[in-house]
Amino acid sequence: MASLNDIRSTFLNYFARQGHAVVDSSPLVPRNDPTLMFTNSGMVQFKNVFTGLEHRDYNRATTSQKCVRAGGKHNDLDNVGYTARHHTFFEMLGNFSFGDYFKSDAIPFAWELLTRDFDIPKDRLLVTVYHTDDEAAEIWKKVAGLPDDRIIRIPTDDNFWRMGPTGPCGPCTEIFFDHGPSIWGGPPGSPEEDGDRFIEIWNLVFMQNEQHEDGSLTDLPRQSIDTGMGLERIGALLQGKHDNYDTDLMRALIEASAHATSSDPDGPGKTHHRVIADHLRATSFLIADGVMPSNDGRGYVLRRIMRRAMRHAHMLGAQDPVMYRLVPALVAQMGGHYQELRDAQALITETLRAEETRFRQTLDRGLKLLDAELETLPEGAELPGAAAFKLYDTYGFPLDLTQDALRERGRAVDAAGFDAAMAEQKARARASWSGSGEAADATIWFDLADRFGASEFLGYDMESAEGQVLALVADGAEVASAKGEVQIIVNQTPFYAESGGQVGDTGLIRSATGLAEVTDTRRTAGVVIHIAKVIEGEISKGQPVKLEVAHQRRSAIRANHSATHLLHEALRRALGDHVAQKGSLNAPDRLRFDFSHGAGLSAQELAQVEAEVNAFIRQNTAVETRIMTPDEARALGAQALFGEKYGEEVRVVSMGQLPGSQKGPDGATYSLELCGGTHVARTGDIGAFVCLGDSASSAGVRRIEALTGQAALDHLRAQEARLSGLATLLKAPAQDVPERVRALMEERRALANEIAQLKRQVAMGGGGSEDAPQDVAGIKLIARVMTGVTGKDLPPLIDAMKEKLGSGAVVLIADTGAKPAVAAGVTPDLTARISAVDLVRAAVEALGGKGGGGRPDMAQGGGADIAGAEAALQAVTRTIEGVKA
Ligand code: SER
Repeated sequence: MASLNDIRSTFLNYFARQGHAVVDSSPLVPRNDPTLMFTNSGMVQFKNVFTGLEHRDYNRATTSQKCVRAGGKHNDLDNVGYTARHHTFFEMLGNFSFGDYFKSDAIPFAWELLTRDFDIPKDRLLVTVYHTDDEAAEIWKKVAGLPDDRIIRIPTDDNFWRMGPTGPCGPCTEIFFDHGPSIWGGPPGSPEEDGDRFIEIWNLVFMQNEQHEDGSLTDLPRQSIDTGMGLERIGALLQGKHDNYDTDLMRALIEASAHATSSDPDGPGKTHHRVIADHLRATSFLIADGVMPSNDGRGYVLRRIMRRAMRHAHMLGAQDPVMYRLVPALVAQMGGHYQELRDAQALITETLRAEETRFRQTLDRGLKLLDAELETLPEGAELPGAAAFKLYDTYGFPLDLTQDALRERGRAVDAAGFDAAMAEQKARARASWSGSGEAADATIWFDLADRFGASEFLGYDMESAEGQVLALVADGAEVASAKGEVQIIVNQTPFYAESGGQVGDTGLIRSATGLAEVTDTRRTAGVVIHIAKVIEGEISKGQPVKLEVAHQRRSAIRANHSATHLLHEALRRALGDHVAQKGSLNAPDRLRFDFSHGAGLSAQELAQVEAEVNAFIRQNTAVETRIMTPDEARALGAQALFGEKYGEEVRVVSMGQLPGSQKGPDGATYSLELCGGTHVARTGDIGAFVCLGDSASSAGVRRIEALTGQAALDHLRAQEARLSGLATLLKAPAQDVPERVRALMEERRALANEIAQLKRQVAMGGGGSEDAPQDVAGIKLIARVMTGVTGKDLPPLIDAMKEKLGSGAVVLIADTGAKPAVAAGVTPDLTARISAVDLVRAAVEALGGKGGGGRPDMAQGGGADIAGAEAALQAVTRTIEGVKA
């Protein structure tokens, strides 16, 4: 029996032989379609190729595309597990022609593959065509020899395929398999068509039109082909099964679920196993493609699927989390073809384990509450919206989980009441916000948040994506279209809004009619605001737009942000556990990190920290992100901002591996931080790290500024240039510069001493008449004005003169060019009679100054104007005479 893996290969190989490029499945989060929540068919990745916007280097392709149909237009979640052919996740096999072959080749390819390679008996097949498509009917007749009654013309949209309200579309032909009269049902188009006898297996779309927003239909530039065949469905058929869940692949997952819960795969818990098997695939592939459980957008659809599976595991009586234990079985089945599943295995396992552990804490209590509520209600009555809302709000029950639980009890829920309760809660949150004193003009963002919900951030994985313009705001009011300055709101964006020290992204937003430059990105009330200027044409509300983050700038920001985490940990290890983040800035050109620490860092500490950060950069290990509750994160030892309010769950970013001997609570992870920012993929992407130094930020808080990547190298290069400049000036090799500078400084000090000495000598004179002491009332006095000296030079001069005099007084006035300085000295034998302080004060007063002070043998002061110098000298003389008298 061919396995699903074999069937996938047979399909891809067949089309490879027909000249088709075998193209990888695109991710489940569409890169090129703003209106789609998840990739839901094979043609999604080729949408722009069909319309001619994009060109590939092949014009035939074949894929096995991962698809999720849940949470959007195609919502199969409710039925999954209960029916034979509903899935949230499935693989769509397809072949595509982009303006290459058309109907006359597409039909024979399909017929040959089905009847020859897959060996399906011809008489079990029949087809439908769009009622006006004579050409397709003719080809079928010719190629397959089908009689008219097995080429059924369908006049409805069932045979005109559209991807959505807009986009490429065209008539299609569907191939059906007839399970025979033993099963109830009629051919397509008949009243019994919903029965299980005739099963659609393949849809061939003749892409020839494009549907536009105004409802008009134009011709595509090139006629093309898009086909889709569910692998699970064709697999069931080829394996002689009637139920997709009986195929080898699904069966292996069901058995793994039965094994993990010690239950019978086909017993009363059969539906639970089917739900688990399906949801395991959807959740694992979504996580592998970068979706994380959250409370809005894609993350919430993921959470709904996960929790639905977890409730079914709980109903099987499992006491512990189950889902994560099934990941190896899934990887064994599908990891061969889907490398991403193997790459993300650890992340998938951990995310499932954490979510199930957490959800189990409230699941029991929630279900009890649900039963208690039901008991109070009359037989068959709907569960009131308020009760469903309480289950959602307090116990984490998504609405569809409550609906699923009620389904078994034959009840429904008042969904409108649930929505009303939800709206009320939002209104309360808003009222409490408007009381918080923030700028009133932010009301507009709350209005937009109410209307459109939070903007979905795609920028953890992407730097460019498509989005749809939901609103344009200019001068505080909404506008329909904009030129010039405007704030742009889209449903989903790769632009990071300033938060947690990381600056907002810049870049471009492009629509069919205009181009805007985004200069900053902020977030209010969950709405991401692109602060922009339309620089070409205009941008209008409702338009699809391409959003491109400025790549180099974002890469530099990422490197700085990741380096900040490494720096934080290095500081903690070097200085102690008291180091806590007090603020940070992650800009493109530098990073700044403020942290609690009492003293400046020594050069040695800084060097140690810098070296450690660089060692982890060179280690080049993957940077990992996980989602958990704040408590779980703290239990692992994650660094969090003290006093910061965290939501129900947090992103935990880990980087660096410690040697085994240093394992902490989270194994060997070096840095573990709560963080919503964007980070490098591997630490090596940081490139290099250079500390610019440490300074005081405020009391008890130090600040380190640092550079990474190119900026770090540029900085080192600039330092190098300065050094070689110095070397040139000094005419010495660079390594001798410090020694040379030291020698120069020595020389300078020696010269300064020599000059001071010379000044003294000059001051004391070569014995000229002015140095001869006068006799004032029997006391020897030297009193004079000096130039070329400062106040500081006076005391040593006075000491020298006193010594020379043996007994007497010295008063010197320094004519400094600015305010004059005065100093006086009296030899010890005379201090009982004359005080140097009195002499200085007398001189200072005559010089227009005030005060002066010191000891009786040495005092100093300062005057205001040298013009009083003569008077000052006389005042000194008079003072001595006065003393004598
Ligand atoms: N786009 C078509 C479908 O989804 C054929 O691939 O059915």
